[in-house]
Amino acid sequence: MQLPKQGTPRDEVIARMRERKAADADWRGGRTWSLVYPAGEDVDAMLREAHDLYLYENALNPFRFPSLRQMEDDVVSMTAGLLHAPDESGGAMTSGGTESILMAVKTARDRARAERGIERPEMVVPYSAHPAFAKAAKYLGLDFKAVPLDDDYRADVAAAAELVTENTALIVGSAPNYPFGVVDPIPELAALAAERNASFHTDSCLGGFLLPFLERLGEKVPPFDFRVPGVTTISADVHKYGYCTKGASVIVHRDRAHLHQYQLFMYDRWPGGLYGSFAMAGARPAAPIAASWAVMHFLGEEGYVKLATVLRDTTRKLREGIEAIPELRVWGAPVMSVMSFGSDSIDIAAVGDAMDDRSWHLDRQTDPSALHLMVSPAHARVADAFLADLRDAVAQHGESRGKEARYS
Ligand SMILES: Cc1ncc(COP(=O)(O)O)c(C=O)c1O
Repeated sequence: MQLPKQGTPRDEVIARMRERKAADADWRGGRTWSLVYPAGEDVDAMLREAHDLYLYENALNPFRFPSLRQMEDDVVSMTAGLLHAPDESGGAMTSGGTESILMAVKTARDRARAERGIERPEMVVPYSAHPAFAKAAKYLGLDFKAVPLDDDYRADVAAAAELVTENTALIVGSAPNYPFGVVDPIPELAALAAERNASFHTDSCLGGFLLPFLERLGEKVPPFDFRVPGVTTISADVHKYGYCTKGASVIVHRDRAHLHQYQLFMYDRWPGGLYGSFAMAGARPAAPIAASWAVMHFLGEEGYVKLATVLRDTTRKLREGIEAIPELRVWGAPVMSVMSFGSDSIDIAAVGDAMDDRSWHLDRQTDPSALHLMVSPAHARVADAFLADLRDAVAQHGESRGKEARYS
């Protein structure tokens, strides 16, 4: 496509976009099970208004827009509070989980270099951890060592201990991980890091804005936050279960001094003036910061607990419904609203195709083969319909396998 010679009327531009968008996934109707976390029309309206108010500002220079700086500080501080960070903690907002993870890895690498003289830093990361860690290792020049999983799909602590060396700069655990929704043994892994004076990162991109509220509801939540000794950084995504629009995550450091020293990039040899940044990006959109601040105030603890109740009940219904289908099994013991399921007897990918035919879009997984569910509040309305279709899809697949078997 070439840039049009003349401008196009606004109505026509919007009409063309709407036409193209018609083929996109129907996340509002609860047909997708990842990527978007709709929390309801009232949250939608709040987010739109916050975006509109901060559509143009740039969060690169916090001194030009003090309101943005204050909102970022507030979001970090509220997140730190949820994660039981100590008073001397600090942090920053980033564009998403991946950028928070990149900054955590950079902090650990630079700390290991400065405090322990490590030239060839290594990171010890569960096989189930998000690929953002492998990306960070590649971008930032660390050796990546993958920890195998236990039978329950959590990082195997004994195997992790074998991989730790004097060059270990960082050990990682997920709370929870994306593929199985289980929480790694964070206290044991963090203790391994502390023994070597290495950093430990809890990836709570998924759980940071949900586990604290499930805990308030009396659910059993494995230890994952700053109450665990040895945890040095945590990432928590406002644009996941914080219900903000995309572009918003928080990295919290146990100790603010480390944040300033190792996360900050400062450059003073440029004719454009002194340049400082806590992120990978230079110019940063203001809207995700404003929208995070807005949604956190709009919902408050009460609103998040309410939504956590909906998620808990919907997840329970879905899990029980899946486990009631004899051919299916949920892998591991997921702790919140993320899980995957497969089968010992039928081809789960074929069930996924049959669900696609019924307009349900489930992500596929390997090792073991599975379909993946990330439950959002929008799924409360469709859980029964989903389970009915899943039962049909499994029955249809079982039948077709039966026929194939008979005629072959
Ligand atoms: C556990 C976990 N960590 C990190 C990420 C990366 O987050 P983002 O896609 O916002 O970069 C994800 C994304 O799904 C995730 O599930």
